[in-house]
Amino acid sequence: MKIALTREISPNFNQCELTHLDRQPIDLALARQQHHEYEDALSAVGCIVCRLPAEAGLPDSVFVEDCALVVDEAAVITRPGADSRRAEVEAIARVLAPYRKLYFVQPPGVVDGGDILRVERRIWIGLSTRSNQPACDQMRDFLGPYGYEVNTARLAGCLHLKSAVTQVAPDALLLNPAWVDPAALPGFDIIEVHPAEPSAANAVLVGETIIYPKAYPRTLERLQARGIQTVLVDASEVAKAEGAVTCCSLLLNI
Ligand code: GLY
Repeated sequence: MKIALTREISPNFNQCELTHLDRQPIDLALARQQHHEYEDALSAVGCIVCRLPAEAGLPDSVFVEDCALVVDEAAVITRPGADSRRAEVEAIARVLAPYRKLYFVQPPGVVDGGDILRVERRIWIGLSTRSNQPACDQMRDFLGPYGYEVNTARLAGCLHLKSAVTQVAPDALLLNPAWVDPAALPGFDIIEVHPAEPSAANAVLVGETIIYPKAYPRTLERLQARGIQTVLVDASEVAKAEGAVTCCSLLLNI
């Protein structure tokens, strides 16, 4: 059984952090509607959705992925790179505690879950404006004993590693080569995003299906040509907050 942990959109979502994007007004009602449709997509691919209440004091808190890395044996509670986001982890740690042994990233380590790509027992952490080497070293100390290999990857031009690359099939990654060098992630088939759709590399893989934004039709054609099953969602409002589909859930097997 798979739980998808989500959190309701904050009433102060318009005060979210922005790094690479200019601020545009977010339509809160539409953002909430899209988020509920995203939760419906998670249910449709077999997840049990567990939604946490909104946090008015934490504008970015819908992006629960940034708060933890969950593997079958344990969970690492992150220390988000933006000061405004540090307190987001408290509620997530409380929810995960009954299910996993918890490890906590400590200063000077900082890492956002959006910078962590895991494929089976291989983990890559993007060295970004939000995530640093001390956090990678701690992650290796926490998860190495369980048989996980922790690597780093350099980014250019995007917020998080998973803005640039996500897994879309057991052996395939969807990737923007302008933002991350595919040589950093050896051993996979690489499906490149369409050059006109640089933000198209973020997909949520559940089983054999991806939850994928409607906004990238040309990259979608490439995915469908590879036989990848998709459930499409409209993620226009979280995109204005520099978020994407993986950011809005934390998946755990129970
Ligand atoms: N607004 C998403 C982030 O910057 O963390």
